[in-house]
Amino acid sequence: MSKHCFLMVILLMFGLPAVLHAVEMGMVFEVYLPTKTVGKVLFSHAKHGPNCNECHPKIFKKKNPRRRPVSMTQMEKGRACGACHNGKRAFSVTGDCVTCHAGDILYKNEDDGNVTFPHAAHVDMFGCDECHPDLFVARRAANKATMEDMESGKSCGACHNGEGAFGVAEDCESCHQM
Ligand code: HEC
Ligand code: HEC
Ligand code: HEC
Ligand code: HEC
Ligand code: HEC
Ligand code: HEC
Repeated sequence: MSKHCFLMVILLMFGLPAVLHAVEMGMVFEVYLPTKTVGKVLFSHAKHGPNCNECHPKIFKKKNPRRRPVSMTQMEKGRACGACHNGKRAFSVTGDCVTCHAGDILYKNEDDGNVTFPHAAHVDMFGCDECHPDLFVARRAANKATMEDMESGKSCGACHNGEGAFGVAEDCESCHQM
């Protein structure tokens, strides 16, 4: 058997798509789906296994420059991620918002103590649109504020004013890890 034929047999046995896709995967491990108001959503191929045809091309086209964004309401009806993230096959799009969207945000500050903004605790109380995009652009480190700004009601201070939530002027250690 010639070398050529041998390769053909291997390809037929394991499938050309599998071989090519394995090569491709190295380049597209992580893709981002942009949204207008709440930033980018990371989709990790590595965490979704090797069966490309579970998603391509029926649920997602690989390349789709004219792709229209899918809303969460459409996902709840089974579109896009919602085809599996329905509470049966995988955790549901009606909860666990921060698993797909933003996690904790760290503000580094050596002198005054780091601040961790916990998305999860806030998402339990507020919709995304209470903060995005008016109060904060949904992009890490895109919204600089001083404590003075906050005391006059900007940034965290929009709520942390001692009325709706503990105030920025009192309780430093509720936010800063000293
Ligand atoms: C669980 C669903 C799912 C599975 C399984 C899956 N993909 Fe994807 N893939 C996606 C999503 C979501 C996108 C982004 C689509 C978009 O941007 O509209 C994507 C995009 C891509 C892209 C384009 C990336 C880019 O940079 O534009 C390629 C190439 C791709 N996938 C290859 C594969 C291959 C090869 C496999 C199998 C090894 C695979 N995918 C398995 C969901 C999946
Ligand atoms: C399985 C992952 C996943 C979960 C869980 C999830 N989302 Fe999303 N969300 C996405 C993806 C992906 C997009 C972008 C879709 C697109 O552009 O096609 C998106 C888009 C959005 C958008 C912008 C589009 C719109 O509908 O206005 C908002 C707001 C949003 N998500 C809020 C939420 C909230 C609130 C929750 C929890 C109740 C949640 N998401 C849970 C993956 C998820
Ligand atoms: C073909 C089915 C399928 C589709 C479509 C799908 N997922 Fe998943 N996803 C799963 C399964 C199964 C798991 C693992 C089970 C679980 O965690 O509930 C998972 C797990 C995840 C996780 C947790 C990964 C971890 O850290 O362990 C995230 C985040 C996620 N998916 C995001 C998305 C987003 C965003 C989309 C849409 C762009 C999407 N998935 C589309 C099946 C799917
Ligand atoms: C109480 C206010 C608040 C709520 C509610 C909120 N966020 Fe955020 N979000 C923030 C803050 C603060 C940041 C950090 C901005 C910065 O670093 O400048 C942020 C950042 C982000 C980022 C960027 C993360 C990164 O790594 O770049 C995304 C994406 C995001 N939020 C999505 C969401 C989604 C989706 C929801 C609803 C499920 C939501 N947020 C609800 C305050 C909020
Ligand atoms: C939309 C209003 C709102 C905004 C904006 C907001 N918070 Fe909050 N936050 C709350 C409320 C309400 C609570 C719960 C009540 C309380 O603890 O006083 C809370 C609680 C917290 C907690 C305690 C969480 C826990 O697990 O107990 C921390 C830490 C915190 N916020 C930090 C921040 C930081 C840092 C920012 C700015 C980056 C911020 N918050 C912006 C409303 C907000
Ligand atoms: C609600 C949470 C919260 C509380 C309470 C809070 N801070 Fe902050 N603080 C932050 C965040 C978030 C940043 C980073 C803001 C940024 O980088 O955009 C910050 C930044 C700072 C900075 C650097 C910026 C500047 O204004 O010079 C100092 C100093 C500071 N905090 C001191 C304090 C002191 C002192 C207290 C108590 C009187 C306090 N903070 C209470 C959240 C808080």
